Amino acid sequence: MQDLQINTLRVKKERLWDSLMEMAQFGATEKGGCNRLAGTDLDKQARDLFVSWCKTAGCEITIDKIGNIFARRPGKNNDLPAVGTGSHLDTQPTGGKFDGVFGVLAGVEVLRTLHENKIETPTAMEFSVWTNEEGSRFQPAMQGSGVYAGRFDLETELNKTDVDGIRLGDELKRIGYLGDAEPGSRNVGAFFETHIEQGPILEDADKAIGIVRLGQGIRWYNIEIQGRESHSGTTPMYLRKDAMVASAEIISEIENIAHRHENGLGTVGFMQVYPNSRNTIPGNIKFSADLRNPKPDVLLAMHEELTAFCQSVADKRGLEINLDPFWYFAPVEFNASDDVKAATEKLGYSHMDIYAGAGHDACYMADLVPAGMIFTPCEGGISHNEVEYSSPEQCEAGANVLLHTMLEASHRLASAS
Ligand code: GLV
Ligand code: MN
Ligand code: MN
Repeated sequence: MQDLQINTLRVKKERLWDSLMEMAQFGATEKGGCNRLAGTDLDKQARDLFVSWCKTAGCEITIDKIGNIFARRPGKNNDLPAVGTGSHLDTQPTGGKFDGVFGVLAGVEVLRTLHENKIETPTAMEFSVWTNEEGSRFQPAMQGSGVYAGRFDLETELNKTDVDGIRLGDELKRIGYLGDAEPGSRNVGAFFETHIEQGPILEDADKAIGIVRLGQGIRWYNIEIQGRESHSGTTPMYLRKDAMVASAEIISEIENIAHRHENGLGTVGFMQVYPNSRNTIPGNIKFSADLRNPKPDVLLAMHEELTAFCQSVADKRGLEINLDPFWYFAPVEFNASDDVKAATEKLGYSHMDIYAGAGHDACYMADLVPAGMIFTPCEGGISHNEVEYSSPEQCEAGANVLLHTMLEASHRLASAS
């Protein structure tokens, strides 16, 4: 009886959609997106709403020392490891309503479906929100899950500051999300994350679900160029130490590096110019670089080319260039992808294998437990943009796959015990 009931269990499309729209009010932008940076008052409002929804559906809440939130729904045997899911509620400055939020709220929809149908799962189920996945206000990205997985040092990350010098730890305390649980201490045996694809592949192939097999590698850099400020109208060209033209050469080479390598990607998205005055030759420039590739050896070659090019520009122009490669995220394989595939096939959704171009919290959870990701299409493949859109039906499919993946994993964890 219970098996039959479980097989026919489905999430509620309208409820999931309404929750997505309700969450999107925090930081809503004029163009229909969200600007909800990590550790802000808006982040607090979003977290509070998640916590209240989970409490209403019978969960106990734990917050850890880097601000990650865990909502646990008990199962039949609560000594066994739980099945976890989660994503992030912070957004980019020009973010949409779905990146991260959909993964969190797909979890809430799974929780509500279990709760209203009074399903007793073999193990507990755990629903999480990870701190600062975006890496926009504080760097690097996936900071909460990275600390949780032991990849980053807790104190170092709490001491990270934004462009105004405000500490992450102080912001978490201020918004009431600096908890006392030890990162890494949850009793979880498998982890799944639902996310919009953020690219065009599923839409182009007309598939409902992406079974994510791999998360590609990422390297992040801070680049600082020290030149010399001087007057734009009186400094002859041969006397200049222009940090801007040196930056321009490097930025252009980052694009060249990406083009030279199969599946290579290269981006400069952040820049600070000093003194930022139109008639003074810039003396100091700081900018970011983001290189990506699914193959670690190719990403290493890209890294080496960038390093050598920066040195050559420094030598040629007589400038100081400091390249700080402060974050390397190695490509990760998701070894619980077959659970996602089995649930997708059981539900009859079209699907294909895919790799993740973005970083995700599940990538760090994959260090600790079998993990998998469920991708759904998004319109035009556009994300990190206020127009980012997935339809109610696309979201429903992802949440249904999450529900059945988690149920299957819970049965597996219980029968393995
Ligand atoms: C984070 O989500 C990233 O891919 O940069
Ligand atoms: Mn995301
Ligand atoms: Mn993102």
